[in-house]
Amino acid sequence: MDNIKVLINENELQSRIKEIARLIENDYKDKELTIICVLKGSVYFTADLTKYINNKLELEFLRVSSYVGTSSSGNIELKQDLDSSIENKDVILIEDIIDTGRTLYYLKERLLKRKPNSLKICTLLDKKEKRVMDIEADYVAFDVPDKFVVGYGLDIDEKYRNLPYIGYLE
Ligand code: IMP
Ligand code: MG
Repeated sequence: MDNIKVLINENELQSRIKEIARLIENDYKDKELTIICVLKGSVYFTADLTKYINNKLELEFLRVSSYVGTSSSGNIELKQDLDSSIENKDVILIEDIIDTGRTLYYLKERLLKRKPNSLKICTLLDKKEKRVMDIEADYVAFDVPDKFVVGYGLDIDEKYRNLPYIGYLE
């Protein structure tokens, strides 16, 4: 077992996610939402966040690949697309972490071409120090330092997604 240090514990995660849900409810009032979960890293965050949002909403999933091991390959590929059209919808894209920003930049460009009524970005973690692309999230749950983090959906070579907290490898 690798040595994993806790960075954000389960209670901190859950209470901050409830706050984000309140912000979203407040911004969208009674509008219907389309929530896009970016697989696989955002599954836990999306599942918890959407349970705390009272708006009527639809859940969609897409999958991209960009990482090999612990470094961004810079090579982003859409592996699985949405099931339905997002035209005229109020869309929130849910990310696990923004690092260089390449993934998000690519996704945002592609999704905007589909003419949603609005598109916002919500990320659990933001590693601002590593940013290469000029892109920001509308909702950020936590800023994190430049460490490789795992847990609560985030992996290293597909492991540790099921940790209930965010940790980092020593
Ligand atoms: P970006 O394109 O460099 O912004 O990378 C975003 C993607 O890289 C995220 O959706 C994650 O899948 C992955 N990633 C970036 N940093 C980490 C990390 O510290 N731990 C686990 N995955 C990461
Ligand atoms: Mg990943």
